[in-house]
Parts: sequence; C-alpha cells; structure tokens
Amino acid sequence: MKYAPLYEALINHGRTNKWSFHVPGHKNGHIFEEKARAHFQSVLPFDVTELLGLDDLHHPEGVILEAQELLASYYKVKQSFFLVNGSTCGNHAMILSSFNDDDIVLVQRNCHKSVLNGLELAGVTPVFLHTELDEEGGYPLGVDLQTVKQAVENYPHVKGIILTNPTYYGMQQDIQEIADFIHSLGGVVLVDEAHGAHFGLKDMPISSIHKGADMVVQSAHKTLPALTMGAYLHVNSERVDIHRLKHALQLVQSSSPSYLIMASLDLSRLYLENLSSVEIKRILSQSEELRMYIESLPHLKVMKAPGRYQLDPLKITVQSDREISGYELQELFEKEGLYTELADDRNVLFVMPLGPLNDTKDLQKVIKKISDQLALYDKRQRTDQFLKGLSPVSRLSLSYREMRGLQARPQSIKDSEGKVAAEAVIPYPPGIPLVAKGEQITSKHIEAYSSLKKKGARFQGITEDQMIYVFDHR
Ligand SMILES: Cc1ncc(COP(=O)(O)O)c(C=O)c1O
Repeated sequence: MKYAPLYEALINHGRTNKWSFHVPGHKNGHIFEEKARAHFQSVLPFDVTELLGLDDLHHPEGVILEAQELLASYYKVKQSFFLVNGSTCGNHAMILSSFNDDDIVLVQRNCHKSVLNGLELAGVTPVFLHTELDEEGGYPLGVDLQTVKQAVENYPHVKGIILTNPTYYGMQQDIQEIADFIHSLGGVVLVDEAHGAHFGLKDMPISSIHKGADMVVQSAHKTLPALTMGAYLHVNSERVDIHRLKHALQLVQSSSPSYLIMASLDLSRLYLENLSSVEIKRILSQSEELRMYIESLPHLKVMKAPGRYQLDPLKITVQSDREISGYELQELFEKEGLYTELADDRNVLFVMPLGPLNDTKDLQKVIKKISDQLALYDKRQRTDQFLKGLSPVSRLSLSYREMRGLQARPQSIKDSEGKVAAEAVIPYPPGIPLVAKGEQITSKHIEAYSSLKKKGARFQGITEDQMIYVFDHR
C-alpha cells in the first residue's frame, strides 16, 4: 500500500494532543495573531516537535526513518535524507563530509552560491571548470570531459568533482564519462541536482545519481509539491562515509526541523508514486503545447537544448527578438499577473507545474497580448556575450585560509579591477556568482556587472552605492 508514514503519524498525533505544554509557542495554533489565524489555522496543528511517535530527524528510528527509506526505494538509491534547509544545506553537507582542509576539488564554475559557501566552510582548494556556453541563450551549460581532463593534468591530486546538473535553465548532460574518469582517480562525484527532483519519473531525464554520482541533492520544493526549504539528499555508493555525512547534516541543519516541511517531503514522494502514466503524459504534453504556442507567436522564441544536452520538459526559457531585456520582458508578464521563475539579461524562465495547468486559454491570451506589445520595440541588433573567452580552468587568487586573516574594505566597483573580491557578487536569481569570493576582479567582470545592472539585474554582494568589499592584502 502506498502511504506517507510521517504524515499519517502527524494526523494520529493531532487526534491525541489535547494539551500542548511543549514548543512551538503557538500551541497547536491556539495562540496566534488574530488577523492571520484563519489563514494559518489548518496547518498549525502539524507544526510540532519531537513528540511521542513523531521520531527525530537527527536520530531517526521510527516514522522519519520509514519515510526516508520509502524515499530511497522510490529513487532506487542506497540511502536518502530529508533536508529542511534546502539544497543549500545539502550542498554544504556533501562537501563537508567528502573533503578535508586544502583538498583540491574540481568545481563547475556556474554553481550556486551554496556550493561556494560550502567550499569555504570546508576550507578546500577549488579548481574552477568553466562551462560550455549556449550562445543564443547566453547562459552557461555543463562541463565537458576534455576540460575535466585538462584540469587533472594541471592538478593531478584531485579529491573529487562538484557538478551542477541540470542547470537552472533545465539543460542536463549525461555525466557518466566524467564520473567514471573521476572515480578512476579515486575521487568522489557530487552533483547539485537542485532542479531535478522530478527526474525519478518515467519519461523525464535520468537523475545523475544513476549516472555515476556518489551523492546528489535535489530541491524538492522547486519542482515537486513540497514546502519551500524542503529538499532531498541521495547517496548511491560505498565511497560516501555515511557516519561523516550524518554528522555534517547535524552541523548544517536546525535541531528543531520543521515537521510541516518534513511532512511535505514525505507527501511529495507519495505524490510522485501516485502519478499515473497518463498524468505524466499530460504533464509532458501541456509543456510541449505551451512551448509550441509561444514559438508560434511573433517576437517570442523558446530556447532549445543544444547538441549533447537534454532539456527538462518542465523548463521553458523564452526570449524576444526585440530590443528588450529579459528583466523588462518579465515585467510585462508580471503586469498581466503572470509570475515567472527568473529573468536574466535576455531570457525569462517558466517553471511548468508537475500537474494540470489551469486556464490555458487565458494564459495564451496574455502571452499573445505581450507578443503584440513587442511589435512596438525595435529589432534586437546585438547581444552581449559576457561569458565568452574565459580560460577553461581557473583558481582563486587567495586560498580560503589566506582570506580568513585579511581585512576587507569597500571599494567602488568601477575602480576595483585587479583587486580580490572579499564577497561574491551574485545576480539573484539565478544565484550563480559573477565574481566569487577570492577571485581577482577583471575588467570583464566590471563590464558585465554594469551592463546587467543597467538592464535591471538585482545583485547580492554590492552595496546600494555600488561598492564591493575587497581584500587589503598588498
Ligand atoms: C543550482 C542550485 N543549487 C542550489 C540551490 C539552493 O537551493 P535551495 O533554495 O533549495 O536551498 C539553488 C537555488 O536556486 C540552485 O539554483
């Protein structure tokens, strides 16, 4: 029988819990700001703590253990873990449990900031692998085996690799050859699969955990019906030290994990199990229909997966042939009540639902209206290629150990060429640092920053008056 043990336990608990003399302070929802009570009332009784029969995420022996075992069995892996602080803490835990101080680790450069923060926490020495570029989309793709081999020639003592697959834009590569190569050197393969929690489903791309990855993290909350911050970590090899991994998870997760989030993780796995072939087909065809509809309109086009990449059917990246940035295009959609996942200088990204799409006729009308509005803009003349011409392999200018003792000071970004960044500069979303902490700032970085800023990008790591923190090390 398909069921969700943690969710069932919470329902049973609700029947017996008459008096709450425990945390949280809302006491099963009895105490709450009156104004919002009606909206929160139905879920507050599930927001509990480690009570009788509800197990303990940090030492699971009951319903949480069972729910995690069902998860591992669904994804056909050796072991799975619930995460209550997103793929962010999953990336931290994977890195902290796999590497030691000063280990050389290959890292796909277009990684999320959580990977870079994990590298800093672990004190490793990253060697960045620059990615292939989708020239039309203007976004980075994956790394190829040649680049990995070149990096290993320069740094033969690598301890492992961290890949991001699929990308935010849903471009997935088969990592098997890279994984085999790294394993042949005795290294470990970690994959940030934040955008691929649905890759266990039939007719979706195959998860990297079945293509040689030793561990992957997946943000269940991104594409499954899980609450924000809910994520999974899967392990599928003997190379992972489970004891060390469990310790790392204790380091990076709250000692009061949210039962609401955990129950939604349990229920998301059940949701996947319950999706029938017919429903999956419908999900795929509605994505395809919307893709084709947008493609059929003037001034809008949909990005395709180049060459060896496979496109996640739930991602639709849209761009216009007019002189309009992705940020401005996103605003046009938002004015019509259509909120998309992200915009960059060229594109707007739609994340499709893993279930029925409502009001498709109205949706098409809105997109058509925007296509009509685009006729008023000039035709696009040129597109910037910020990511072109980077060397395939690069290092930080200072090690994390060296950075630890240094003082940082603010510096106007336009005069920062040649300085070493003391904080990452991150267009958000997608959260991929333009400059990583410890990297030397180049004229190319400054040019990319100014151009993106002018087009409407939002940045983390830059103050309102356009200052960046740099190290005072010379
Ligand atoms: C590639 C990638 N990895 C990791 C994360 C962090 O995931 P979470 O929000 O689940 O912590 C994100 C978030 O956008 C991401 O895009």
